[in-house]
Amino acid sequence: MTDATLRALAAGSTVLGYLGLCFAVYWRQRLRLQATARAAAALAGDGTEPASLVLFASQTGQAEAIAWQTAGWLREAGTPVRVMSLNHVDANALRNARSALFVASTYGEGDAPDGASVFAEQMMGSAADFSSLRYAVLALGDRRYANFCGFGRALDEWLHSAGATRAFERIEVDNGDPATLAAWQARCGGSDVVAQAEPPNGTNAMPWRLATRKLLNAGSAGAPVYHLAFAPPPGHEAHWESGDIAQVTVASDPGRPRDYSISSIHADGELQLLVRQEQHPDGTLGAASGLLTSTLAVGDTVALRLRPHRNFHLADNAQRPLILIGNGTGLAGLRSHLRARAAAGQHDNWLVFGERNAPHDFLYRAEIEAWLADGVLRRLDMVFSRDQAERLYVQHRLLQASGDVLSWIGRGAAVYVCGSLQGMASGVDAALRQIAGDALMRDLTAGGRYRRDVY
Ligand SMILES: Cc1cc2nc3c(=O)[nH]c(=O)nc-3n(C[C@H](O)[C@H](O)[C@H](O)COP(=O)(O)OP(=O)(O)OC[C@H]3O[C@@H](n4cnc5c(N)ncnc54)[C@H](O)[C@@H]3O)c2cc1C
Ligand SMILES: Cc1cc2nc3c(=O)[nH]c(=O)nc-3n(C[C@H](O)[C@H](O)[C@H](O)COP(=O)(O)O)c2cc1C
Repeated sequence: MTDATLRALAAGSTVLGYLGLCFAVYWRQRLRLQATARAAAALAGDGTEPASLVLFASQTGQAEAIAWQTAGWLREAGTPVRVMSLNHVDANALRNARSALFVASTYGEGDAPDGASVFAEQMMGSAADFSSLRYAVLALGDRRYANFCGFGRALDEWLHSAGATRAFERIEVDNGDPATLAAWQARCGGSDVVAQAEPPNGTNAMPWRLATRKLLNAGSAGAPVYHLAFAPPPGHEAHWESGDIAQVTVASDPGRPRDYSISSIHADGELQLLVRQEQHPDGTLGAASGLLTSTLAVGDTVALRLRPHRNFHLADNAQRPLILIGNGTGLAGLRSHLRARAAAGQHDNWLVFGERNAPHDFLYRAEIEAWLADGVLRRLDMVFSRDQAERLYVQHRLLQASGDVLSWIGRGAAVYVCGSLQGMASGVDAALRQIAGDALMRDLTAGGRYRRDVY
């Protein structure tokens, strides 16, 4: 055989190989789309109008992200999908839909997350008839809480008692368990290819370098609180909005990533956190907070994943007055908003912040006092619970200032709460309800004017 023939044969086999590869890819894709279409049809029933709703009940965005992913799988199969937060759904939307997939997390003590609290209160409190609806529920939860998947279960039972038909049994996910999530994916005809219909656009985990660590509450009666600043990975343009979350995965406990509210804004050029050092009863440090506040040395890197926290963004409230309420490390989320407001020249802000003792626990004191002096804060209420004989908390200050709270809300203010769920956020919620009434608080929640980052 001549060289030219050999070259021609070699070229021919390359082309054939390439065509074979293309065909294999095409065939795999075809089988995958057929499987997806079968699953989507099963979900939609045998109706001719397969419009599906994918509805999420989410606090910090995990259920929301899974909902968008689920919508992506259905769209791949040609099913028209609408993705909505439960608080934005009414009975008509459910009655008119052929099918609905619910992705529901649980918060508080078995409660609905804020993004579904109005739905839970208004819709689930009464009987309904959804006999033409086919549905399925993916319930997200964590078995360490007493009421595992409490809201997902209640939602499923309520839909079932309203005559809706389960397309398949409820799937319960403990702490993001990949195997149960894969079962949901298979039920929805999801392909291995990540189908993201849209929103959540957090980053993959990246190595951020610890640039600064500073103890902010020396001498405090409480556990140490540190300010941490991280430099981005070289060449990496990180983006986040005020209110977003940085997630830390600890090698010794890979099952459960820990969330931290980001306390700086993108323009600061570094990612800052405010972290309280947890100590277990046996004296060992909390897995993630111990890593961040002790094990990690300045100059070391840690893998951080940035996740959008849509429930806590400024969003449509950017032009409104803000009442920012929090305690302890909750100052992190409030500080990122205040830094964003200062940068935008938006000075109509009222900060109500609680800690233990002024001499030790006035976190970011210089910055807060400068905001007051510069007018970034129109009003400041620092509430130190142990500086007087009787214990005084932020919720008490709100009740004392109830007239002003009402007049701020009356001129359009939005309310942001960040910090402890137990004690602080539940007390603040009760105080706001006492001041403004349940109906107004429901309107504020539904309208995105009452937003919480509480844990
Ligand atoms: C949306 C959100 C935002 C948050 N933002 C912040 C923030 O800005 N700043 C901040 O400091 N925190 C924040 N947190 C809390 C944070 O995510 C962590 O939960 C916290 O730092 C504790 O994690 P850890 O790994 O250090 O503790 P872990 O090791 O998980 O321990 C936590 C607790 O679990 C129990 N426990 C766990 N292991 C043991 C054991 N071996 N023995 C005995 N008891 C044990 C103990 O009660 C212990 O106190 C936020 C949480 C959420 C959900
Ligand atoms: C403050 C807090 C309270 C929680 N309460 C419960 C609960 O009572 N029952 C449960 O199963 N899971 C509970 N969880 C776990 C969440 O449901 C779980 O982490 C879920 O994946 C969060 O999804 P989301 O980001 O969409 O809100 C709680 C989580 C937090 C941070």
